[in-house]
Amino acid sequence: MKTIHVNASTRYDILIGSGLLASAGEYIKNAVGTCTVVIVSDDNVYPIYGDSLKHELESSGFKVLEYVFPHGEKSKNLSVYGDLLEFMCENRVTRKDAIAALGGGVTGDLAGFAAATYQRGIRFVQIPTTLLAAVDSSVGGKTAVDLKSGKNQAGAFHQPSLVICDTDTLKTLPEDEFSCGCAEVIKYAVLGDEAFFERLMEKDIHDQIEDVIATCVSMKRDIVEEDEFDTGKRMLLNLGHTFGHAAEACAGFGILHGQGVAMGMTAMARSAHAAGFCDEATVEKITAILKKYKLPTEIPYRLEDMVNAAFSDKKMAGSTMRIIVPERIGKCSIMSIPAEELRVWMERGGIK
Ligand code: NAD
Ligand code: GLY
Repeated sequence: MKTIHVNASTRYDILIGSGLLASAGEYIKNAVGTCTVVIVSDDNVYPIYGDSLKHELESSGFKVLEYVFPHGEKSKNLSVYGDLLEFMCENRVTRKDAIAALGGGVTGDLAGFAAATYQRGIRFVQIPTTLLAAVDSSVGGKTAVDLKSGKNQAGAFHQPSLVICDTDTLKTLPEDEFSCGCAEVIKYAVLGDEAFFERLMEKDIHDQIEDVIATCVSMKRDIVEEDEFDTGKRMLLNLGHTFGHAAEACAGFGILHGQGVAMGMTAMARSAHAAGFCDEATVEKITAILKKYKLPTEIPYRLEDMVNAAFSDKKMAGSTMRIIVPERIGKCSIMSIPAEELRVWMERGGIK
């Protein structure tokens, strides 16, 4: 097992390893003491891991409640969030109790936002079961639900008290969902670690899963400790996301998030090369590694639609927009550009 300490407004540990769910009671007791734990999970994940987690927590002395919702982004909304809060109220959950978010990023974001706001804030534990959640969403305290007008438009910063990442849970994850997590892993390598990038090229992520998660999470920890509230360096984590979110919107959210990020990273690398910020070899390496992990590298949507979609993205600050530009593998920078220049960046990236 690897343990990574996070020293943010809340201090907590991230535990990464095989078979950790079998000792979850002991880990959670150390982090929050004995209390009532509400397991929040979706209807794909709870049937696989929910009962064994419940029994493990009960045998460690916890009272356990479970709240299971329909899987998918469509459940990350105010209605499910409100229902979860009512459920906790009806079951007399108090400020001394805690939530355990068992699932992917949808579960973590929804349960985390409920924890941030229920009775002005209770503790929560992240138990990520997707690669994306393991390397990104379970760490750093961003919690949210979507509004009709956009993704993550209602949310809060609320750090977990513990993250338990049992790598065995990834064995039941569908291959396309695993591949989407790979896009986020590759993002970290492009952002800040050339040697890591080479390791991902040489050896499959499946065969080094614990090390890969620990490397990504350590990088995210360093960024979060420096910029917990996302006013500076943390924006680097949006590499590939400006174009990626626009691609997701153009696809009517019919593509997975990681596929959008992969498309966005390639287009941004091409654009950065055309503008003289990075060499052609950087573009080729990014394209090659995304293809190796079966991720798309072309944006098939119309320039006009992509521009419109990007303008409704919340990363626009007034008349300027922040984009993350690769300079070489292992180094990217945050650039503020006039909003009207975005079209040029997209055109240079090969979007027609
Ligand atoms: P998800 O939670 O919907 O999980 C993807 C699918 O995999 C779901 O159908 C789920 O039921 C299933 N699943 C999960 N674990 C499984 C397992 N072990 N075995 C079998 N099936 C399993 O989606 P995701 O990709 O994990 O997360 C995407 C969400 O994360 C988005 O809402 C995004 O906005 C959010 N996000 C948040 C942050 C953050 O910092 N808070 C960062 C990145 C993404
Ligand atoms: N996933 C982006 C962030 O945590 O800031």
